[in-house]
Amino acid sequence: MTLIEEAHHFLEARARRQPRVGVVLGSGLGGFAEELEDRLVVPYQDIPHWPRPSAVGHAGQLVFGEVEGQPVAVMSGRVHLYEGHAPSQVVFGVRVLARLGIRALALTCAAGGINLAYQRGGLVLISDHINLQGVNPLAGPNDEALGPRFPDMSEAYSPRLRALAREVAAQQGIALEEGVYAAMLGPSFETPAEIRYLRAVGADLVGMSTAPEVIAANHMGVEVVALACVTNMAAGILPQKLSHVEVLETGEMVRETLVRFLKALLPRLEV
Ligand code: HPA
Repeated sequence: MTLIEEAHHFLEARARRQPRVGVVLGSGLGGFAEELEDRLVVPYQDIPHWPRPSAVGHAGQLVFGEVEGQPVAVMSGRVHLYEGHAPSQVVFGVRVLARLGIRALALTCAAGGINLAYQRGGLVLISDHINLQGVNPLAGPNDEALGPRFPDMSEAYSPRLRALAREVAAQQGIALEEGVYAAMLGPSFETPAEIRYLRAVGADLVGMSTAPEVIAANHMGVEVVALACVTNMAAGILPQKLSHVEVLETGEMVRETLVRFLKALLPRLEV
């Protein structure tokens, strides 16, 4: 049995309902997991082979539950490449959720705003990414049971789910920008020159996560919608230094809006 199957069987025996939608909560954005109905909390440490996050602001538990009748599985806390985890470990959770039966994956992440129209605390729907992390979770022998050797990425961030997200945001009166996410390895924040470079190549946002999970989800045929919270303006834009404290503080500021958005969006992810 593969490591993914072992984790899958462990969770399948515990979940009361098969989740239809998976959710990954980013740095400082973990609050949503507390809002689920009919909750079942499984600490990552209890799940066979599940990697444990070390980043501050990441709880490290899988929470099963429902949002207005929609069965969901929420990863509260994710692991990043910059923690030293192998790419296959970074996408382990997403692969297990896909095996559990999710048909759509909603990701949230903290990001630096490169686009000057963005503001700290704003929400941005990710339309596409530029993977500059230097690795791809699909490198190595391909497991045909998961997906094809050369998966298409031309609609990696589902146009259908993005349209739905824009509709839900409008209904909820939540301002939502849309933009391209540049994925960096981290853990150092970017230099101002790197931010000018990223702007020149078409990035609106920068972060240290998301791209591996989105690649793995597309590989397995799971539709993706991703929401970035602009926790800070990127390096060199404002006359101030960047800090993880600011990232976490902004996450706390947008908590209520993000929870309201996800609560309205997830039941609508008909898949
Ligand atoms: N850069 C990279 N990752 C980030 C940032 C940033 O400015 N803010 C939050 N995550």
